[in-house]
Amino acid sequence: MSVPINFNVKSVAASISPTAGSPLHDHFRRRADAAEVQPRILHPLENEGLRLLVLENISQEAVAAFRSQGYHVDHYTKAMGEDELIEKIGSYHGIGIRSKTKITKRVIQAAKKLLVIGCFCIGTNQVDLQAASRAGIPVFNSPFSNSRSVAELVMSELVTLSRQLFERAHELRNGIWNKQSKNCWEIRGKTLGIVGYGHIGSQLSVLAEAFGMRVLFYDVLNIMPLGQARQVESLNALLSESDFVTLHVPELPETINMISRDQLSQMKEGSYLINNARGKVVDIPALVESLQSKHLAGAAIDVFPHEPSANGDPFDDQLNPWASTLRKLPNVILTPHIGGSTEEAQRMIGQEVSSYVSRYLGSGSSISAVNFPEVDLRVNTSDSIIRICHVHKNQPGVLKQVNDALSPYNVEKQYSDSKGEIAYVMADISNVSTSDWHALKDRINSTDSNILTRFLA
Ligand SMILES: NC(=O)c1ccc[n+]([C@@H]2O[C@H](COP(=O)([O-])OP(=O)(O)OC[C@H]3O[C@@H](n4cnc5c(N)ncnc54)[C@H](O)[C@@H]3O)[C@@H](O)[C@H]2O)c1
Repeated sequence: MSVPINFNVKSVAASISPTAGSPLHDHFRRRADAAEVQPRILHPLENEGLRLLVLENISQEAVAAFRSQGYHVDHYTKAMGEDELIEKIGSYHGIGIRSKTKITKRVIQAAKKLLVIGCFCIGTNQVDLQAASRAGIPVFNSPFSNSRSVAELVMSELVTLSRQLFERAHELRNGIWNKQSKNCWEIRGKTLGIVGYGHIGSQLSVLAEAFGMRVLFYDVLNIMPLGQARQVESLNALLSESDFVTLHVPELPETINMISRDQLSQMKEGSYLINNARGKVVDIPALVESLQSKHLAGAAIDVFPHEPSANGDPFDDQLNPWASTLRKLPNVILTPHIGGSTEEAQRMIGQEVSSYVSRYLGSGSSISAVNFPEVDLRVNTSDSIIRICHVHKNQPGVLKQVNDALSPYNVEKQYSDSKGEIAYVMADISNVSTSDWHALKDRINSTDSNILTRFLA
């Protein structure tokens, strides 16, 4: 089923296309009926024909969305190695990748025109973020697009574990009829303990209540509970009251092995553990002991301390020394890190990241960038405005230099922010002639703190 892409056009204000304007703006204005109300879209003053290189299996909707914005898109379905990328990247203004393409420092050095990197996935480990920000290139990703997919998987695991569904289905596939109700339970009326009440944990809370479960959660932050859920004060309180415990915390030094022998012993006899968070959050040898002793009645695990790097690679004792023991335990569901792997999540990622990339190229907004100061200005409806997007080194005196250069003009809006070594200022100025902006561009580009400056109109 295909769902149309909706661009987030918050930063693009609606205006009536004027009939007259400065020669500069006339040059860049799209042909439009004077009376028609059009969203105003800014365009780079220098590099009109923006070229995007899109790699790997990025959703087709995202590729179509880029093309509909007027960008030239070269789309290859495979990842590229470093050398091939270095050879190709020089002519592109934007690149879209998933997790297999590595954007190294060498790649960034070769990317002379690159303005933006879109990671169409959850993480950004594949990009040298520091090299990118030093080159004035923001990196966008989509960290929370698959929250619903994970929450739904947990719901299915709750039922599967409590009904021993996996065992029965496996037996029947082997020709064994084994109908039984002993130790098979409804989840209605049972207590679900959620550890980490963020994007996934809170979605799950709503779904579990709709199934008639009582929901408790533990989080390091005080969070407003949804529905009838209740926050408890300690992890131990949650463990000792819950029939099912599900983990939704990030991997941090303090969450590594947060469920180990002591915590498992706090859990109720006959309860279940579900981990779709990160592999190192659970001490798996301790979990194996707890399952073998029948203290826990089952577990579902989607993430592991070491995971095979490609489909088809073995999941064995060489990778994790307990793998073969875990694989043999009854009522244990093992899945290959598929919590967030759905068509909907991929589509949402495509929609979200393509809108960030287009918004940055079109209006300069860096909101949601992972390595970059987050700056946004509403797009001014007036046709006589030029927008300056100036990425610079985060050092004293830069704003004075910039504002000296802008002082002959009216600065309609200005906003700046910094992150680590770099800073970003956006300014809208009015009534700039063509010769003026060339001079302005030369002046700002020649400052010693300049990293990358663009002019949009
Ligand atoms: N299995 C998959 O395919 C899959 C998919 C998406 C996300 N994940 C993982 O799920 C986890 C949760 O994702 P999310 O999007 O809900 O994250 P999130 O950042 O929205 O929520 C995490 C929550 O955990 C809380 N937290 C942090 N440290 C804690 C601690 N020591 N004790 C208790 N609470 C703590 C935070 O305050 C926050 O509320 C992450 O580890 C993520 O990597 C897995």
